[in-house]
Amino acid sequence: MPQIVSSQDDVTSLACDALVVGAHERDDGFELSPPAAAIDDTFGGHLHEALTQFGFKANPGNVQVIPTLGNLPAGAIVVVGLGSDAPVQLASVRRAAAAAARRVSERHQVASALHEGIKGGERAAAEGFLLGSYRFSKYKKHPGGPKIERIVMPGADADEIERGIVYAEATSLARDLTNEPADVLTPAELADRARAAADVGGFECSVLDERELRSGGYGGLLAVGGGSAAPPRLVRLRYVGPDAGVALPKIALIGKGITYDSGGLTIKPAANMETMKTDMGGGAAVIAAVTALARLRAAADVVAYIPCAENMIGPAAMRPGDVIHHYGGRTTEMVNADAEGRLVLADAIARANEDEPAVVVDIATLTGHISVALGKKIAGLFATDDELATELMAAGEAAGERFWRMPLPDDYMSDLDSDIADAKNSGSRYGGGITAALFLKAFVAPGTPWAHLDIAGTGRAESEGHDTPKGATGFGTRTLIEWVEGRAK
Ligand code: BES
Ligand code: MN
Ligand code: ZN
Repeated sequence: MPQIVSSQDDVTSLACDALVVGAHERDDGFELSPPAAAIDDTFGGHLHEALTQFGFKANPGNVQVIPTLGNLPAGAIVVVGLGSDAPVQLASVRRAAAAAARRVSERHQVASALHEGIKGGERAAAEGFLLGSYRFSKYKKHPGGPKIERIVMPGADADEIERGIVYAEATSLARDLTNEPADVLTPAELADRARAAADVGGFECSVLDERELRSGGYGGLLAVGGGSAAPPRLVRLRYVGPDAGVALPKIALIGKGITYDSGGLTIKPAANMETMKTDMGGGAAVIAAVTALARLRAAADVVAYIPCAENMIGPAAMRPGDVIHHYGGRTTEMVNADAEGRLVLADAIARANEDEPAVVVDIATLTGHISVALGKKIAGLFATDDELATELMAAGEAAGERFWRMPLPDDYMSDLDSDIADAKNSGSRYGGGITAALFLKAFVAPGTPWAHLDIAGTGRAESEGHDTPKGATGFGTRTLIEWVEGRAK
């Protein structure tokens, strides 16, 4: 990953392989940003001239490289579009930086004036450069990947750069965990990775193994994990920041940690199974977010649970028709082994209730239905509390992750009526994302504000975006950090 530093240099005198600057989209073409215009001046107007000849359009993420042929200290000027909004949206800066990072990935020394004159620009730019530089290449004989060593941001606030780095590195951690194949990342290994993050970050981590889960009565985790040779775990993280203490309400975060989802005995078609190592993306986002909050020394009081299990078809696999006794006493008639996420989350939510949190937020690759409803770029947000929904929507916006609020109509719960247990784990296919959320809601302590983020569509990308690679996106990580930090203020 490139190193990002600030400097006191003037943009026009910066020696580097490539210098990144922004341009705005206007009705009559493009307009160079002030630093780009300053460079154009020292370049005798050639920058503007060349861009015009190329028919450059400054929509977000558009990139044009102009070689300077020895006429400037920078080897090339990389112009990226920032769109037409005034003020410039931070999402556009993040995307522009990510697009630039992809385009200049073969160069070593990069400088960037993208942030200049934009409030919060340095953080968004730093974030974008790192998000766009992410690759998961540990299993390639020749890893390749971006060659950028250093990105110099003249006049930038070093603390703001650092925040961008923390947010981006947390996203990378979530991506790394989620991209890890399931034969490596078993429930025990996921728990070990969480513990390693806690050791480095200086926060608490405790793990229940299958014996402790059995004696503790975690029926959901045991049922889902029963069909696998790799037994389940329940990870608990605890971060209490400086000045937290009595003043700050405790936040509970819960992330689905299904390390592989074959569908269990309700087995998935082969094509749907191929990507199911990413079914712990919610858990990864939670581990990464807590890690970042600790790095930022956020004044927050957080408890987190990641229920980890592998949904397989071994001889002790749960059978459709089985009745599960969850932690806390609620029962579920398990009628579809592929609706396993809610079964493990139910135990985790019930356990989290004992910590008496002021608010509970879970994040999960829970239903294919959410991507049918919202597509692959917008996640579902369900909330029992309007204020909490508003906060999370705003955090998502600031983080560059899109959410859409979904309803929680109580009467839809009848779709999960069971003859012999408190609920079934699956109903008809209509409104499947909603009934999944309603199933979880029944486990939240009455009166505690709760939100559920369904990232089944957004957690993994089928193709490369500017700031998202193909594969695990780490979606939700930055929203969680942003939201918890925002609450602490
Ligand atoms: N892990 C899946 C959801 C999913 C689907 C995540 C596609 C990412 C991409 C989840 O466990 C699942 O199988 N859900 C079922 C629910 C149904 C059985 C009620 C689904 O979406 O079909
Ligand atoms: Mn499933
Ligand atoms: Zn699943």
